[in-house]
Amino acid sequence: PHISSIVVPNDFEAAAKAVMPLKSWTYIFSSAHDGSALRGNLTSWGAVRFRPRIFHDVTTVDPRSSILGSASAFPFYVSAMGQMGRGHPAGEIGVVRALAKRGVHGLISSETTATMEEIATAFADEKNKKRKETSAGETEQERPEAQLHFQLYVPSDRAIAVQRIQRARATGVFRSVWVTVDTAVLGKRTADRRLQAAEALATSPELSAHAERAGFGLLAHHSNSQLNASLTWDDLKWIKREWGGPVVLKGVQTAEDAARAADLGVDGVLLSNHGGRQMHDAPDALTTLLEIRTYYPSVLDKLEIFLDGGCRDGADVLKAVSLGAKAVGVGRPFFYALSAYGQKGVERCLDIFSDELVTGMQLVGMKNLDEACPERVNASRLLNE
Ligand code: FNR
Repeated sequence: PHISSIVVPNDFEAAAKAVMPLKSWTYIFSSAHDGSALRGNLTSWGAVRFRPRIFHDVTTVDPRSSILGSASAFPFYVSAMGQMGRGHPAGEIGVVRALAKRGVHGLISSETTATMEEIATAFADEKNKKRKETSAGETEQERPEAQLHFQLYVPSDRAIAVQRIQRARATGVFRSVWVTVDTAVLGKRTADRRLQAAEALATSPELSAHAERAGFGLLAHHSNSQLNASLTWDDLKWIKREWGGPVVLKGVQTAEDAARAADLGVDGVLLSNHGGRQMHDAPDALTTLLEIRTYYPSVLDKLEIFLDGGCRDGADVLKAVSLGAKAVGVGRPFFYALSAYGQKGVERCLDIFSDELVTGMQLVGMKNLDEACPERVNASRLLNE
């Protein structure tokens, strides 16, 4: 379909499916087991309702926010997704150029198609272009610039992990490191495995017999070498030391772990179940946020809380912010947008999210994000589920 016919973020999914090889589309779409965690993520947002207030002058509203101390045009960012070159030749380069144009933050995966240096260069280049266009006198505060953050998978070989951190720092563009902590091993990605089995059977029955003996196929085997099942809280110390800047834990799923992270001086936690791709029947991020509000409310003052998983509507971002989150990460819609339309698709997806967010602020009667507070939402349905 023509890009102008894309109206909501979900429209990108079908657009991508129509043009992508099934295997690459499945890689994005895939979730763990029967998809229970993914479905939970998708339905959680609708279970929280707004409490719109009337008679507020909302002629202009201000959606600006900040992430870990850096200004951000909006309280959402693009999540870390690996191998974006599988969706479109522009890959991560297209994504970061779109981010730089729109002043939105992005989290860059440890497993990119382009190198982190190439990504950093393209990002800096696009930011410079934008600076020249921006009228003189407009400050960073008035018009936030895009920022990148680095998602770290910690491989079992510590030397490789340290090297990865040092490379990230040397690029000079990453503001923080987000350590993924929900991926001790790769989750059971059912759709990927089915497709892989079918392909193996079609090409070589012998090879598939071999794969069957070896375990559950090459996908899991290959990716697990990048992971580290022995990671513990102790490892945080050297990771923090090596990086020397803000650290966020990506994939916190309970209030207890958020509280422990806060006690250990971590700068932020991303409540996330990895888009439903890791533990199935894992909690959606909004539920974990409510759990923190109930049992460890002081965590909200000690570090920044981020959420991701299933957010497909710019206005939904306001629900998380009202409940105390700093920003919401969005994954798949941007990968589908890139796959279907390249950089232009990512730009359109950013525009749709920001337009929905601004309209949402106007309709609930919120002039700026300081006015986002728990009274703006009713989360009782989610609590009762
Ligand atoms: C991911 N995610 C992910 N997370 C991470 O820490 N490192 C990674 O390399 C990846 N790669 C990745 C690839 C693809 C195709 C998807 C869909 C997801 C998880 C991602 O950062 C985020 O947690 C979820 O995507 C958020 O859920 P939604 O918005 O996709 O529903």
